[in-house]
Amino acid sequence: MRRERGENVSEAEIAVHWQEEEYIHPPEEFIRQANLTDGGIYQRFAPQRFPDCYVEYAELLSWYRRWDTVLDTGRPPFWRWFVGGRLNASYNCVDRHLPAFRNKAAIHFVPEPEDEPVRHLTYQELLVKVNELAALLRDFAGLKRGDRVTLHMPMVPELPITMLACARLGVIHSQVFSGYSPKSVAERMADAESSVLITTDAYFRGGSMLDHKEKADEAVELAAAAGFTVEKVLIWERYPGCYASPTPLVEGRDYLLNELLKEYRGRRVAPEEMNAEDPLFLMYTSGTTGRPKGCQHSTGGYLSYVAGTARNVEDIHPQDVYWCMADIGWITGHSYIVYGPLALGASVVVYEGLPTWPDAGRPWRIAQELDVNIFHTSPTAIRGLRRAGPDEPAKYDYHFKLMTTVGEAIEPEVWRWYYKVVGKGEAVIVDTWWQTETGGFLTSTMPALHDMKPGSSGPAMPGIYPVILDDEGREIPERSNRAGNICISNPWPGGFQTIWRNPKRFVEQYYARYCKNQDSRDWRDWPYLTGDGATQGADGYYRILGRIDDVINVAGHRLGSKEIESAALTIAEVAEAAVVPVADEIKGKVPELYISLKPGLKAGSALRQQISEAIAAEIGPIAKPRRVIIVPDMPKTRSGKIMRRVLSALSNGEPTGDVTTLANPEVVEEIRRLMG
Ligand code: WTA
Repeated sequence: MRRERGENVSEAEIAVHWQEEEYIHPPEEFIRQANLTDGGIYQRFAPQRFPDCYVEYAELLSWYRRWDTVLDTGRPPFWRWFVGGRLNASYNCVDRHLPAFRNKAAIHFVPEPEDEPVRHLTYQELLVKVNELAALLRDFAGLKRGDRVTLHMPMVPELPITMLACARLGVIHSQVFSGYSPKSVAERMADAESSVLITTDAYFRGGSMLDHKEKADEAVELAAAAGFTVEKVLIWERYPGCYASPTPLVEGRDYLLNELLKEYRGRRVAPEEMNAEDPLFLMYTSGTTGRPKGCQHSTGGYLSYVAGTARNVEDIHPQDVYWCMADIGWITGHSYIVYGPLALGASVVVYEGLPTWPDAGRPWRIAQELDVNIFHTSPTAIRGLRRAGPDEPAKYDYHFKLMTTVGEAIEPEVWRWYYKVVGKGEAVIVDTWWQTETGGFLTSTMPALHDMKPGSSGPAMPGIYPVILDDEGREIPERSNRAGNICISNPWPGGFQTIWRNPKRFVEQYYARYCKNQDSRDWRDWPYLTGDGATQGADGYYRILGRIDDVINVAGHRLGSKEIESAALTIAEVAEAAVVPVADEIKGKVPELYISLKPGLKAGSALRQQISEAIAAEIGPIAKPRRVIIVPDMPKTRSGKIMRRVLSALSNGEPTGDVTTLANPEVVEEIRRLMG
């Protein structure tokens, strides 16, 4: 951890004086119908019942073969769950629901243009589409069990269809968020060695149809320049038969899926019997160093965990209409739009566009039209909707029983608007804390068992035993309200298996710091480092304080400072780059970029623009800094390290503290003047 505030006191050790918030009791009507009303779950999942307690989640699934061993800890920290078990994720999310729900909607697709009708896809139709595509991927694209395929798809129903078709074949999918750049796609393809890219011609966002296929062309070129060959690009069309991209199809490389699928009409593919430990997908995410890393998630453990947590926390029943507004390109969408809910036979809403398009009433109109009763979104979206239309929800006749917030800490003020105005005082709120790496929720109140507390995530999930450690690895006493680095002391089935092709980094980044004994096969010696700071209150509820590393959480999306800095350094004029997170009313945090130029060069707005664009091109528009500040020199320690702490104080309008020990203290005043 960086020593941020001098005097050898780390950020997380500084006592945090949160104002205590009131408790709010879940409505009786909710409790009456809830999936989980038995508080005995915490005894069933107590440490002395670990790991067998997790059989309760695994039994929510259909297995071809039951496991022999619940948890194998033979090669720490590469935990293996439900070893010997065999199952298929696509079978669990589709086929097995047919007897009861054949004609029930699996997916309600809401296009962004409001005059375009909602598409309702039943489980039967989902089965047909998943099978036809699986046949095509196998017979035309030559994909087979264990291969990787990269998806770069927006929020259209073809995305879950594609994921499930891959899962049916045992092909490992790696979906890259549609807003990410061609460069990001190329790097992830090369890293995963996936020679097939599945994409879309175009999609709607903010009122216009965006060309998406051009990104595929660029990604293929960038991959080729880096020595990696993309063999096939398979393209869904937003409107079948009306290819909407101005880019031509490349002969022998690009294929329109809707055309090819005609040959596969009615085809069925037997689901592959996958081992519980076979990977289901990769999800790349930013870490402290280097390029994003591919978090590898398992089939059996992951699916069990997301099904169990979706059932208990999201309270999904087959008759509910569930809408998670996250993008499927993030882990939230994988776990809590696709795999968890569909494993439970839910009806899920997939919305293509911006929540505020064409106005801030849109989400509530969708909720009204489809009778959505479970709603799931992020603090950034809530803040945005609150600002754009604070009184909109009251105008619509919808009723939520449960609402989720995820991705960032939510301010109690914003929480109260969510509760009173969006939820109309009728809905339970769950604030779920977790990560790409963890597959599913780590902390949350159980909606029918606990009171809610604005700004607090709640206790640990059943079977998750967190521990808060200080920088020396000493345990911070439970329920002491003292801050430290929150770790999870035990394995759980949703945890990622490794970093794709980089097991060393997996161990170093997540386990090395607090491992008590490298030779031990006892999981108790291997706490998992989440990278977040947290406190636990007297009531046992956790409050998440944010990242303790160089990751910036922008609108709930993780960006590595290093990634942004190295993108800036691709511009020849740039000598040094330093990124700091700045508080933002809507997005929580946004990056601000400090630049020093090579000697003799002059700052100008064209250069700032160029740097900003380089970052958008390398990573994606979400990584664009709010400001690019070109400074005469970076504030530095005598050993030459850039003092990000000082820059962060300048950006956030906070006192910089004592700077006299810097090598160049005068530069701090200069920068302050420069920033006005
Ligand atoms: C942050 C998203 C406060 C946290 C599921 C974590 C949160 C990072 C919450 C993971 C929450 C997530 N309250 N902070 N309820 N949920 N975070 O991998 O810093 O995109 O480490 O996974 O988001 O982001 P990721």
